[in-house]
Amino acid sequence: MRKIVIAGNWKMYKTQAEALEFLQGFLPQLTETPEDREVVLCAPFTALVSLSQNLHGSLVRLGAQNVHWESAGAYTGEIAPSMLTEIGVRYVIVGHSERRQYFGETDETVNLRLKAAQAAGLLPILCVGETKQQRDSGETEAIIFNQLEKDLKAVDQQNLVIAYEPIWAIGTGDTCESVEANRVIGLIRSRLTNPNVSIQYGGSVKPENIDEIMAQPEINGALVGGASLQPDSFARIVNFK
Ligand code: 13P
Repeated sequence: MRKIVIAGNWKMYKTQAEALEFLQGFLPQLTETPEDREVVLCAPFTALVSLSQNLHGSLVRLGAQNVHWESAGAYTGEIAPSMLTEIGVRYVIVGHSERRQYFGETDETVNLRLKAAQAAGLLPILCVGETKQQRDSGETEAIIFNQLEKDLKAVDQQNLVIAYEPIWAIGTGDTCESVEANRVIGLIRSRLTNPNVSIQYGGSVKPENIDEIMAQPEINGALVGGASLQPDSFARIVNFK
């Protein structure tokens, strides 16, 4: 069975105080949330401890937005897997397009991060997706297959979530048509050895389009940026019908 995973990616938003204020508005809206879905908040590192202390007994799981592949060492600015598991983090986003684009993340480092995350008991969310230019020149499939091949080398597909995030749909309001997202996600699945990997769609997911997105048979969840920052909007998304 493919698990449904709805994850908010807060990116570089929310101080610790703002994160706790979010919870006050968000948690009361989860009383009717069906148990068929996992709800995840991928917060900045500085908010993780406070969130962890305030999520006991709730169905919300905690996620980070990056993790290093070494267990410790002289890696200024990086976070080791055990630093996350120690405070109750369960998920970690790996290879988000913003890290690939602005911080020199490569398929090789994505692969190292995925394996280290799994070895520590974290559940990585691997992000793949094409740019507008790549899509317009008909390269979408080739780009994504290449990312999958390199990123997933020797990665355990039993403990993995994948997010298909077309880069042109991120933060633009320009959502990928749900039928097209379903088609690409079906293609991603065809390249996996484990057909039960949960594959999310990400890119301008909103309360207005979540029901249609989740009605697609290949789509097993969503990775939500901007619309995960407000309690009401993210609650409507996780309570999709
Ligand atoms: P938006 O939902 O703001 O388009 O961001 C998507 C994303 O990058 C999630 O990781």
